[in-house]
Amino acid sequence: MFNIENRRYIGSKADLSDWIMESIQKNCSGDIFADIFAGTAIVTKKAAQKYSKLIVNDFLYSNNIIYKAFFDINDWDKKKLEQYIEKWNKKDTNKLKENYFSVNFGGKFFNIDDAKKIGAIREDLQFSNLFNEKEKNILLASLIYSIDKIANTVGHYEAYFHVNSIPQQFIYQIINPSPIKNIEIYREDVASLVKKIKADIIYMDPPYNSRQYSRFYHVLENLVKWEKPKLEGVALKPPVENMSEYCRKNAPVVFKELIDNLQCKFIAVSYNNTYNSKSSSSKNKISLEQIEEILNLKGKTIIYEHNHKFFNSGKTNFNNHKEFLFITKVR
Ligand SMILES: C[S@@+](CC[C@H](N)C(=O)[O-])C[C@H]1O[C@@H](n2cnc3c(N)ncnc32)[C@H](O)[C@@H]1O
Repeated sequence: MFNIENRRYIGSKADLSDWIMESIQKNCSGDIFADIFAGTAIVTKKAAQKYSKLIVNDFLYSNNIIYKAFFDINDWDKKKLEQYIEKWNKKDTNKLKENYFSVNFGGKFFNIDDAKKIGAIREDLQFSNLFNEKEKNILLASLIYSIDKIANTVGHYEAYFHVNSIPQQFIYQIINPSPIKNIEIYREDVASLVKKIKADIIYMDPPYNSRQYSRFYHVLENLVKWEKPKLEGVALKPPVENMSEYCRKNAPVVFKELIDNLQCKFIAVSYNNTYNSKSSSSKNKISLEQIEEILNLKGKTIIYEHNHKFFNSGKTNFNNHKEFLFITKVR
């Protein structure tokens, strides 16, 4: 069974969520906590132990399905889903036809027989009327977690390893939902979201560099949307969608606008210091000084620092990598 943390995701705060929550709790008060660039939603899950109302948002389709699958309180029949999953695990792949997923990703991101099964499950879920919405979300999120475990990649879908043969290893496994009683789940661009939500504490963890999440996780987005677009390039990417301004030159401008529009008592911002990185794609788009300056206009800001292992295309780089947490008490 997969818990929400059991996923590979760039910038995931899995190792830092205790430190983040402790720092926020020391400095902020209130009942409503919003995680507006939520990614894996590990921080939301942690915050749910401390706050009575949660708001979670990310503009990726795959993340949104994961939030609904893990956090929604609607009823679902565990036995029925386990039987469905077991049926697929027993299915002989020789009996399955080629499909959109296997034609595009088989022999590249996945073993060809695994890809046939993954595509067949997705197609079946699209048309099945055996399940309610919560159950479909759980089955889809389970498919995402199961394929993430075996993908022939470093953990994202910008590229795959060029190997002679990819072993057959797909096992469909169910997620372990962790329902949250009082939660609002959004899939919006943060710029429009913040105009309609109010919270006591808004936590934000924007992308730090030019790496676009919608491009890095395009296989998951494609699997969830299941519109079967024509794919391009070596990495078989779909047409461009959900490109983040926080990954572009304009990042300081949109960050300032966002901060100006927040309706909350406290703001907590995560960011890290890859500003001087040698690789241009991992350079920070906003400098730490710019963040501090923009936040100080909104209220008194304190800064916490934490040494942290840095994910850099599969390599771990300990060089002077620090994670920062800015906390602002809004005037
Ligand atoms: C650094 S990651 C967040 C990681 C997260 N805190 C975790 O622990 O997994 C940034 C997230 O922001 C999302 N994102 C980027 N630009 C966005 C935008 N304009 N609106 C909504 N979400 C956005 C990305 O999809 C990505 O999941």
